[in-house]
Amino acid sequence: MKPISFLGLLGLATVSLASRVRDYEKYDYYVLHIDPSLASPEDVVQRLGFVAHEGQLADLTDHHVFRADKSSDDVASIEIKERRRRRRSLAEPDVLDSVLLAKKQVLKQRLHKRIIPDPPAGHVPSILSRQSDAVAVQRQSEVMKTLNIADPIFKDQWHLFNSIQVGHDVNVTQVWLDGVTGKNVTVAIIDDGLDMHSDDLKDNYFAEGSWDYNDNDPSPAPVLSDDRHGTRCAGEVGAVKNDVCGIGVAYDSKIAGIRILSKPISDEDEAEAMIYKYQDNYIYSCSWGPTDDGKSMEAPGVLIKRAMLQGVQQGRGGLGSIYVFASGNGASNGDNCNFDGYTNSIYSITVGAVDRAGLHPYYSEHCSAQLVVTYSSGSNDYIHTTDVGTNTCSSQHGGTSAAAPLAAGIFALVMEARPELTWRDLQYLAMETAAYIDDASAEWQDTAIGKKFSHTFGYGKIDAYSMVEKAKTWDLVKPQAWFFSPWLHIKKEIPQGEQGLAVTFEVTKDMLGEANLARIEHVTVTMNIEHTRRGDLSVDLVSPEGIISHIATDRPSDDHKGGYDDWTFMSVVHWGESGVGTWKLIVRDTHENDRKGTFTDWHLKLWGESIDADKATLLPMPNEDDDADHDVIVSTVPGAAHTASLPPKPSATKPVVSNPTDHPHRPTKPAKPTTESKPSPTSGSQEDSGTSTSEGQEATTSPASSSWISWLPTFGASKKAQIWIYGAIGLISAFCIGLGIYFYIARRRRLRNNPRNDYEFELLEEDEAEGLNTGEKATAAGKKGRRTRGGELYDAFAGGSDEEEDFDDYHDTRR
Ligand SMILES: *[C@@H]1O[C@H](CO)[C@@H](O)[C@H](O)[C@H]1NC(C)=O
Ligand SMILES: *[C@@H]1O[C@H](CO)[C@@H](O)[C@H](O)[C@H]1NC(C)=O
Repeated sequence: MKPISFLGLLGLATVSLASRVRDYEKYDYYVLHIDPSLASPEDVVQRLGFVAHEGQLADLTDHHVFRADKSSDDVASIEIKERRRRRRSLAEPDVLDSVLLAKKQVLKQRLHKRIIPDPPAGHVPSILSRQSDAVAVQRQSEVMKTLNIADPIFKDQWHLFNSIQVGHDVNVTQVWLDGVTGKNVTVAIIDDGLDMHSDDLKDNYFAEGSWDYNDNDPSPAPVLSDDRHGTRCAGEVGAVKNDVCGIGVAYDSKIAGIRILSKPISDEDEAEAMIYKYQDNYIYSCSWGPTDDGKSMEAPGVLIKRAMLQGVQQGRGGLGSIYVFASGNGASNGDNCNFDGYTNSIYSITVGAVDRAGLHPYYSEHCSAQLVVTYSSGSNDYIHTTDVGTNTCSSQHGGTSAAAPLAAGIFALVMEARPELTWRDLQYLAMETAAYIDDASAEWQDTAIGKKFSHTFGYGKIDAYSMVEKAKTWDLVKPQAWFFSPWLHIKKEIPQGEQGLAVTFEVTKDMLGEANLARIEHVTVTMNIEHTRRGDLSVDLVSPEGIISHIATDRPSDDHKGGYDDWTFMSVVHWGESGVGTWKLIVRDTHENDRKGTFTDWHLKLWGESIDADKATLLPMPNEDDDADHDVIVSTVPGAAHTASLPPKPSATKPVVSNPTDHPHRPTKPAKPTTESKPSPTSGSQEDSGTSTSEGQEATTSPASSSWISWLPTFGASKKAQIWIYGAIGLISAFCIGLGIYFYIARRRRLRNNPRNDYEFELLEEDEAEGLNTGEKATAAGKKGRRTRGGELYDAFAGGSDEEEDFDDYHDTRR
């Protein structure tokens, strides 16, 4: 039995514990997104023979958790697929028609703590002076006296006040002296637990914001012998000013513990964890992620992505939850934080490390998505903090794991000073006030707005004083807006060598005006490359201002055969640029060998501040296939694809979708702005997707983009196009019905002997060998098959996804 604190027990009164019990030994669990106008969760229970409806998944509207009897099958997806197959011949409605997404839950252990990895062979840490600076020591004593700091290891906490390498600390003491210590701000440590009984943490422990998803109870107390990581991180944020160990950088903040790393968890658990008590927990500190081995390339599943978007849109009363992620410790494995879908999310602040000598530690990953760095282990020292147990301190904490909570604690100070900052304001402030680190090897470049950026250190190290001061008078930014290019089809072999394959896309002022986008914050590039060795590839994005983002770097250990599959890279390097002009993407295959590849297509997205706040909308929830879904948004693109050194662009009568084997994405449905883009009552944003949509549809001179939204309802402008489209639909329909039957039979056959979930992989490869992938649908299935974990393919292909709805719709249109 693990101890449950008194506060934890109190929590029982308000939290329905029963609704959070998950017993994967006895049951299966499913998450279904249901259209409530068509069916209720109870209808679904009946229809699918589930045991019970467990309730909604946190605050994700219409996402419901169901308990079912154990089965090796994904019962929901099978039934949904069967229903869809029959829909054409049956007129009566079916409860399953209400299912927009179906996900069988599986427990998996795929997140790793970002603890300090072993140094690479031959690594020699720099030898540091241990000689204190007399003036600094004097100042330190004064500060301790003024603030009554008597914590025994405070003087070891060089990251708070460095009396040896003067200036190499977070510059926080004046912030404390000004009375800003984290009051009224809660930081949730999503990790392996939090020792809420520790004398150094208990006074700041926030039980109501805490949960244990590994043991399904309200108290995230450490259990395993190595459940120390979360407690150490919590100490960095909110260790109490007392006579135990040291203090947190925001020593009057509240700290919550959300335990997810100690056992396998499901996507449902993780999604819920990311928004647990998100009106009270302001900041989520995440010192974990997919393994940093230099070869994995993993992003959170769609439920987790939706939860994070929910967090930034609805958390903190609509100001947005703050997600702080450790950049990763794989630098010496050649890893890069753009290959991690958590750190390269625009919704997370990615924080890397700098050591007490101001040097880049061997482990801290580089990438264009890294916003800032802060202090952590290296040059023979560590972060000194609280540990699990009575009066136990740690002098061994480090890695980027220690950098993220330190940043989170500083952000808590900033939010005490300005509670009304949105999630984007906080990113602005971090970017604006980060301090340059004098290290030539960091390859600093000047950005268009006069900042310095380094892929090693982001915009530099966080300076607590500067950030808090700037926050005090900061003008809040307008809501977010975005511009998405159409898919740009390339289909060209990538030449080996330094030169690479360069492609361009021209963004005009009008395009951004129509998209309501005033200036850029984040840029994302989603791309598809077929390659027989993924690690040989690298990609640079060059903005119209000539600023370069190394969005992908080659990774020596990454042997994966398959290139990039709808992967989204992110850059914060272009922050503040207008975005107008020619964007260039350079894809390189610098390793001259027999491993080659083809650049299939890409998709540029510019995210930033809106021109007119009243026209801003909330981004719809992402779907499985993140780039086939944002119909409303795609329609804001008025211009045709313009590419250089490319094959001829699609002709005026041939929509982009006319090249089905180019890309797995099916055309999106005509804009349906009322479904998921509906702002919730708590947000101030207005729904106004209509304006840009109709403009996009009228852009008849730009077939490549307007086709994405206008051809479905109107069947395009010309007769020729109509004929072509009808033909294509007929072919695709016939093909899909055939493929559906084939899959169904094949699946049934295999299921008899194979309870495992990953057989689809083999199945798809057979399909390809048999030449079945001639249509768009098969390409989609083939690609998904290679990428997706077992079981999920069924959702992506056969049912449960919103795209499937789209597809059915155009069968209907045909009738
Ligand atoms: C650090 O804080 C002091 C105030 O204590 C401030 O004057 C200074 O500008 C801050 N930043 C740096 C980089 O020194
Ligand atoms: C905390 O917030 C509450 C409500 O916003 C406010 O009344 C209170 O004064 C705040 N406390 C501190 C210490 O800032």
